[in-house]
Amino acid sequence: MTLPRVFVTRLIPAAGLDLVTAACQAEVWPDELPPSRQALLERVRGVDGLLCLLTDRIDAEVMDAAGPQLKVISNHAVGVDNIDVAAATARRIPVGNTPGILTDATADMAFALLLAAGRRIVEGTREVRSGGWKTWGPSYLLGADFAGATLGIVGFGRIGRAVARRAAGFGMRILYYDPASAAPEPGLDATPVDLDTLLRESDFVSIHTPLNEQTRHLVNADFLAKMKPTAVLVNTSRGAVVDQEALYQALKSRRIFAAGLDVTDPEPPPLDSPLLELDNLTIVPHIASATWRTRSQMARMAAENLLAGLRGERLPNCVNPEVYS
Ligand code: DGY
Repeated sequence: MTLPRVFVTRLIPAAGLDLVTAACQAEVWPDELPPSRQALLERVRGVDGLLCLLTDRIDAEVMDAAGPQLKVISNHAVGVDNIDVAAATARRIPVGNTPGILTDATADMAFALLLAAGRRIVEGTREVRSGGWKTWGPSYLLGADFAGATLGIVGFGRIGRAVARRAAGFGMRILYYDPASAAPEPGLDATPVDLDTLLRESDFVSIHTPLNEQTRHLVNADFLAKMKPTAVLVNTSRGAVVDQEALYQALKSRRIFAAGLDVTDPEPPPLDSPLLELDNLTIVPHIASATWRTRSQMARMAAENLLAGLRGERLPNCVNPEVYS
């Protein structure tokens, strides 16, 4: 029996990779960096399945380079903004993703960034290491209070709700705005409001929307101007949801107090990006889902989606189920 041919665009954790290599004739891109565009176009030629990462742009050109036998595209991520899903649907190719399993890890990171930015953790560490810390000071490195403060959550899906549950434990008031009018979360005291109200009333704003044409640069100069000058912004969704030039200006001019970013546009930001000079920005390299268990589960789920597609079965997690109708 000939095994299906697949291309895996990076070394993923063994929990998923072993499933793929056991069932397929798999070529796995071995480098730490993603395949170049040219390498991607060459490697996909003739494959039955593609297991890709959020760093790979999978568009119609890639699908056509693969050929008409391409049965499935499986993303090792919950976000699928790197894939032209409409182009896949037009070719009746199911696209898989990894929802649910990274909810808690991502919510933990969002909360870590809220705390780090609000309480100036990184700045404090720098002070200690550089000798800037001379003595205990009554007004030294003051930051934001959490108990009794208002958290505004933009995007009230799985991750937004998980952040809200954490905030409830900190005694925060929770507001949320969801462009898709998400229903309230049972058992959670969270109030739906319009975006202007959320920005006006929140001491902390955490972004949890997918990236699409409606949310690209949702956080722009106008958005930031509506926030409190003492407010903290955190983004763990996608970098392009934030207009980084506008964020830079808002942080530099202290229009808002601080920000925490797990994601940037591009990734990584160039080392001479002015954002990196700001003391009131806490920034980490897109690691919200980077826990041992979460990454293993993501790899397994991505492999299961891939294998189901190769067998001609419905993907356990499919973002374009209309391909089955
Ligand atoms: C995803 O899965 O979309 C996340 O951004 C990975 O951390």
